[in-house]
Amino acid sequence: MKTSLCDWIGSRSSFSSLEALRGSATRRNRWVAILGGALSLAPLAAFSQDAKQGEQLYTMNCAACHQPTGTGIPAVYPPLAGSPITTGGSKRAVAIVLNGLQGPITVNGMQYNGPMQPWKAILSDDKIAAILTYVRQAWGNKGTPVTTEQVKAARAEYAQRTSPLSEADLTAIADEDIKP
Ligand code: HEC
Repeated sequence: MKTSLCDWIGSRSSFSSLEALRGSATRRNRWVAILGGALSLAPLAAFSQDAKQGEQLYTMNCAACHQPTGTGIPAVYPPLAGSPITTGGSKRAVAIVLNGLQGPITVNGMQYNGPMQPWKAILSDDKIAAILTYVRQAWGNKGTPVTTEQVKAARAEYAQRTSPLSEADLTAIADEDIKP
């Protein structure tokens, strides 16, 4: 919508002579900036504050490996988009982000064998909740949201744990949401 409006403004101007176009270029650019700015804010307003924060935190902390669209990199970084571990019961996803994960692990038929660091010392409960709510619902994922209280409960459960999870640890965790 943003693009088509800019195109529309552009096409109006293209009817003017070159001189007129030069004269109005600054004015026109200002309008494009104002309209473009207003329109790019509009879709954001549809998201909750949490989803917006979750997306920003994902971009800062996770996207370098799992990629901005959650696809990961085949055989190197597993996908979060369409991953049953990411979108299944929140117990597993929260446990992974808190404690980290050490391969080998199979996601959607492909094996991964890298270390994923623990985030419990880096990200607060509300930040982990916002990131996981985002990744569980972005890119067509249909996971349930994760609340700050749920992460807090999981953090207490893993307070003594210092090693990352293995695939066996992961499958031992019930594939269900953390009780609210
Ligand atoms: C430095 C790279 C790196 C970063 C940064 C990273 N991860 Fe991972 N992640 C991995 C690797 C590698 C694995 C697979 C580990 C293995 O082989 O056992 C993984 C596995 C996962 C999994 C389980 C597998 C799946 O496909 O569902 C989830 C969920 C996950 N990461 C979420 C996150 C979140 C959320 C963040 C940001 C807070 C994050 N990761 C940041 C590398 C990374």
